[in-house]
Amino acid sequence: MKIFLDSADVAEIATYIKTGFVDGVTTNPSLIAKSGRNIIETIAEICEMTDGPVSAEVAATDHDTMLAEGRKLAAIAKNVAVKVPLTEAGLMTCRALADAGTKVNVTLCFTPGQALLAAKAGAAFISPFVGRLDDLGADGMGLIEEICTIYNNYDMQTEVLVASVRSTQHVVDAALLGADVVTIPPKILGALYKHPLTDKGLDAFMADWAGTGQSIL
Ligand code: E4P
Repeated sequence: MKIFLDSADVAEIATYIKTGFVDGVTTNPSLIAKSGRNIIETIAEICEMTDGPVSAEVAATDHDTMLAEGRKLAAIAKNVAVKVPLTEAGLMTCRALADAGTKVNVTLCFTPGQALLAAKAGAAFISPFVGRLDDLGADGMGLIEEICTIYNNYDMQTEVLVASVRSTQHVVDAALLGADVVTIPPKILGALYKHPLTDKGLDAFMADWAGTGQSIL
């Protein structure tokens, strides 16, 4: 399973990319707004940090403007994946960009039917938002399972990109279901390392080691 970082904070992304297990980055208009920076400059900087896909989202809602924005975002770097919302205009834009060789990430997916249409429109990635469904008391991971089944039934090449991740358990569940990608907020990615027994065990090893008086180097 590929791990993407869900962030538009260039400094934060640089820190996590050093770990070697970040395969790409996703941004959205809210994350760009939070960064307080220009979208074109920010996406260009992120694209220089990774060879993996960097999702940059259009901000228009009509097809013609979405397409123009998508083309401009795609021209920033060869690893930009243009993100479009799962609307009729978004799917038309997805088809046009995909036909021109641009990777498209269709976002704001909440049903398996929407995911089916995104695959038919040539999406490289579908982004179902599990956390926002869970927030409403619905079953976010149930949606992932259904989409994986549908895509497998027809050998569809669209990658299932689990988004709106709220916990480390979401990451594990996504992996158990065989999702292709999970995009993780930096805070959750940091939490994946952590276990109290790891810390406790390391403290005990260090204390015992100090007692030996040895040095490996
Ligand atoms: C990813 O592509 C999405 O933009 C992101 O995961 C949304 O997460 P949120 O529901 O926490 O805003």
